[in-house]
Amino acid sequence: MTIKKPLRFVALLGSLRKDSFHGTIARALPSLAPEGVTVTSAGSIRELPHYDADLQAEGFPPALLAIAAAIQEADAVIIVTPEYNYSVPGALKNALDWLSRLTPQPFAGKPVAIQTGSPGMVGGARAQYHLRQIMVFLDAYVLNKPEILVGGMYGKIDSETGEITDEATAALIAQQLAALARMVRPDE
Ligand code: FNR
Repeated sequence: MTIKKPLRFVALLGSLRKDSFHGTIARALPSLAPEGVTVTSAGSIRELPHYDADLQAEGFPPALLAIAAAIQEADAVIIVTPEYNYSVPGALKNALDWLSRLTPQPFAGKPVAIQTGSPGMVGGARAQYHLRQIMVFLDAYVLNKPEILVGGMYGKIDSETGEITDEATAALIAQQLAALARMVRPDE
């Protein structure tokens, strides 16, 4: 698939870990995207304080405003995240809570794709469906299929070399990015 007018996607990462497997996936996205689509980071959620309405009253954190601007300017967002205790990691939920307080709300009407993984077989499905529920309130348009649920991910991703070693996983991610591009530009 080749996109005629360039599209810009940003990736939002739910893991803070230096050697994150999900970080490895996020960094591989540019090479898996269709021709004409660039993928960059939306920025790190690491520095965001816990959501606090009193802090909000003093002014939104600069790190949040940078992420919000990246999302606002992007044609679509890819959220790549692990599952923690059958749900979304607290740091990602915190980032989404902060983002939800902004006007205009950066996710409103924004095409979003979700990618989860786990060392177990379920591939983060429970977190993925919690995340879909959260994105309803944020008014995002979440892509339905293909779903990216990378089960047994420690055998499919090499976080040392930065490679997705499982070809089927890489191919499915490429298909999802193409589907996201079609969601943004149904005519192409
Ligand atoms: C986990 N993990 C995990 N895995 C899973 O499949 N279901 C779960 O509910 C949980 N819960 C959970 C809670 C906490 C606090 C941690 C630290 C881990 C394992 C998790 O899937 C694994 O750590 C991540 O996939 C690693 O991702 P990164 O950080 O390498 O991107």
